[in-house]
Amino acid sequence: MNGDKEVSRRQLLGSAGVLGSALVLSRVVLAQDENDGKAAKITDGQLVLRITDNPELGKVGGWKLFDLGEERVIVANTDKGLIARSATCTHKGCDVEYNPAVHQFVCPCHGARFDEDGKVVRGPARTNLPKYASDTALVISKP
Ligand code: FES
Repeated sequence: MNGDKEVSRRQLLGSAGVLGSALVLSRVVLAQDENDGKAAKITDGQLVLRITDNPELGKVGGWKLFDLGEERVIVANTDKGLIARSATCTHKGCDVEYNPAVHQFVCPCHGARFDEDGKVVRGPARTNLPKYASDTALVISKP
């Protein structure tokens, strides 16, 4: 992505308004380009979003589901920082939700639960919830 620059975690958290939490993703990039007016997009295999366009993610416990066409992704602001997972339940494909009180992704259809790492903690789902591009980055654009 053109115009990206690495920033310290403190700079990112300050700009994102999420001081006090730690990002758990492997790499964070501050994107200087605009986000084409969308709440989020996938660019070069990276989920790109701006906290200012997604105020739900500005505080711990907030979460938001993104329909990105081919993929549905849920992003949650957890005690450990911002995390992104596939939003599609591995049981029968309903969208999961994030429950900050229990630190789990929950499926409203048949009650499956997944921990923040996406691991099944209660069925009927048997397969873990995929991490979204765990080896790439969640890119948060400068406000
Ligand atoms: Fe999620 Fe069945 S679709 S538990």
